[in-house]
Amino acid sequence: TVTRKFIDNLPKAELHVHLEGTLEPELRLKLAQKNHIDIGTTSLEALKKTYQYDTLASFLAVYYEAMAVLQTEDDFYELAFTYLKKARQNNVRYVEMFFDPQAHTSRGIAIETVINGFSHAAQDAKEIGVDAHLIMCFLRDFSKASAYQSLIAADPYKDKILGIGLDSDEHHNPPLKFVTSFEKAVSAGYHITMHADVDQVDSINHIKQALEIIGVERLDHGTNIVENPDLVEFVSTHEIGLTSCPNSNKFLSQDMKGKEVQTLLEHHVKVSINSDDPAYFGGYINDNYWSLAQSYHLTQEQVVQLAKNSFETAWITDSQKTAYK
Ligand code: ADE
Ligand code: ZN
Repeated sequence: TVTRKFIDNLPKAELHVHLEGTLEPELRLKLAQKNHIDIGTTSLEALKKTYQYDTLASFLAVYYEAMAVLQTEDDFYELAFTYLKKARQNNVRYVEMFFDPQAHTSRGIAIETVINGFSHAAQDAKEIGVDAHLIMCFLRDFSKASAYQSLIAADPYKDKILGIGLDSDEHHNPPLKFVTSFEKAVSAGYHITMHADVDQVDSINHIKQALEIIGVERLDHGTNIVENPDLVEFVSTHEIGLTSCPNSNKFLSQDMKGKEVQTLLEHHVKVSINSDDPAYFGGYINDNYWSLAQSYHLTQEQVVQLAKNSFETAWITDSQKTAYK
């Protein structure tokens, strides 16, 4: 078995963390006061009591509501840099961070404000020993035209964005809805990934669309593929990374999906452990490794393999990879 100290000391890459999902209630209160935004309470305790969700949709309602306090470039900077300091404490050396521009532009914040704040934090992270990059997500419950507009609007900031992802409410929002925007993203030189949240309606069909038609390089969550041996074979052969998030799964599916992770490891699938929305799901990346390791009695070898997979499926060159080993 493995100790907490071993997990804490292990160098890790984090590939699935939403910057807006790192907004802790404490920072939310502080920014509400600074920006004079009424969030219904000034009590931390009362605020925390509103954090109640047990499905993807009920979680997303709280998550989008909380973002109202993010107003200025400094706010976006502070959110990201606060996360990056925690990542460093968790011995994360490399991180690719999701963000949701449409969740901000739809409430009147300029995309420039969002990207400049986040990318400035990513630059400053070098000084604390974290190599940080941004993945811009489309909200799949918004229209395909809105996704396309978002991609066009990001064009002036292309050098600050490593890849394009797809998140938010999956129900009735299959990957193929966004095929045009993802094709354009690939031809513009972006890496691509998509969420396939655990236990969603039509999950296997969505995963097939993402892998076989869109051609994603990774799947976020995606552990439902264990239901389909052909897909397991496909992701193993093509070295598609799967970014699993145990504490998030526990909240949204009442199951960490540790059995699935173990099955995937046995089939040499490059599955990794990540925190998803740490301010909402009870912990940062080491807490996720630790809860999975404890609940499923993971061996040291399995934990090391999960961390290795995180670097191997990161969007860095082979020479960059050896620098972290
Ligand atoms: N946005 C933030 N976290 C998410 C998740 N786990 N699934 C889908 N969209 C999200
Ligand atoms: Zn996610």
